[in-house]
Amino acid sequence: MDTAERVPSFFDPKEFEDWKRVRGWKTGEIAEAFYRHVRNLNVAGAVVEIGSYAGKSTICIARAVKDRHKGQQKMAAIDKSFQQDFIPNLRRFGVAAFVNPINAMTTQAAETWNEPIAFLYYDGFTDRQALTDFIVWDHWIAVGGTVALDNTAGFWVGPGLAVQAAIGSGAYRCVEDVCGVTFLRKKRPIENIGEHPRGEGTLRAHLDYVGAWTGAFTLDLERPRPVYNHRQPVSHRVRRSLIKGWRKGWRLLRRSPPARATPALSEASQILSRLERQVAPDSTAAPSIAYLKACLALRQGRLSDAIPILIRLSDLPLDSAFMNYRLGVRETALLRLGQAYDLQGDRTKAQRTYRELLQMAETMEIAGAAKRWLDEPFKRAEPAEGKLLREYVANDPLGRYRSSFFPAQ
Ligand SMILES: C[S@@+](CC[C@H](N)C(=O)[O-])C[C@H]1O[C@@H](n2cnc3c(N)ncnc32)[C@H](O)[C@@H]1O
Repeated sequence: MDTAERVPSFFDPKEFEDWKRVRGWKTGEIAEAFYRHVRNLNVAGAVVEIGSYAGKSTICIARAVKDRHKGQQKMAAIDKSFQQDFIPNLRRFGVAAFVNPINAMTTQAAETWNEPIAFLYYDGFTDRQALTDFIVWDHWIAVGGTVALDNTAGFWVGPGLAVQAAIGSGAYRCVEDVCGVTFLRKKRPIENIGEHPRGEGTLRAHLDYVGAWTGAFTLDLERPRPVYNHRQPVSHRVRRSLIKGWRKGWRLLRRSPPARATPALSEASQILSRLERQVAPDSTAAPSIAYLKACLALRQGRLSDAIPILIRLSDLPLDSAFMNYRLGVRETALLRLGQAYDLQGDRTKAQRTYRELLQMAETMEIAGAAKRWLDEPFKRAEPAEGKLLREYVANDPLGRYRSSFFPAQ
């Protein structure tokens, strides 16, 4: 059964069905984690959410506040533009009385904030401002308090950077990561942040970003496609298809070819070129960058660019590892090499590569994939339809080897 379908302990099955229809991007697994963390807080202080949208996450956090404080405390929900259904959604789930909505930019709200915070859920900025904003809010987080940073599954660089700085500076420790919501426990204030925002933290956040958008750490080299986990209202769907039609018409008019690379892929390409210039060829980051470059080339159908890089990587010593995944570079590169030969239509070379891989693969999932493609040629997967970005990263068989938030082993 899909873990996202498990009914959170604080909902009955009917409520859960109703909650799934609330607009937003959270899974049942995350809902349960919010509730558990807030119920089990062992420091005093406010409960705050930044970025509420239509209230999908607010409902879960407010439920925990209600149950924990027997109705004596309210949480604060901060958003620069709450959706119209925010309050009706809170009412439907019986939590409107436990939420104090603050209609403001997070930076504005921080200026007048004046009490310690025991739990902060952050789903605001996704660009680099996420880190600056987090440092501002850190001032109010009580030692022992919990911060849940959203969007850390690699799809945005800002939250990745914030989590790297929080852990890398030694101010927080990672308690758990639930589908791209990272729960951190505060040990001491963020100070002496030093190199983290510019050094290894940035590097890892960028590797995560490129890895996510190229599908480099999924067995099928599967790319995600942003989706909603609720049915979009008719007006949204009509607007989207009108925009699509208008773009198509404009292209025809200008006789320009359809856009080939999505912005994320072209951005990934720019990031990799920049990293390549910054990182010494013999540094520990170099194989990760080279591997991502090969995956990007594979995604873009540039097989003759990808293959020589993969051949070189599959010759590396057995203990070469990625910076952000606990996987051997050599075995992963061999898997991709087999796939590249298959995409080229060279079955003989592909099968020879899968056999070589089976001799040395240490990762069960990679060996399983090699066996599968020894029997039938690899075909490039379509974008992962119907999966939330966060489910895609966390639930892929290789997802459990993600190690961005922990020192590489
Ligand atoms: C991804 S949505 C939040 C989704 C919500 N947490 C949920 O689980 O359904 C992000 C929200 O953050 C708000 N937001 C983004 N940047 C913000 C900022 N700098 N200050 C205040 N709100 C912000 C947006 O208006 C939007 O409603």
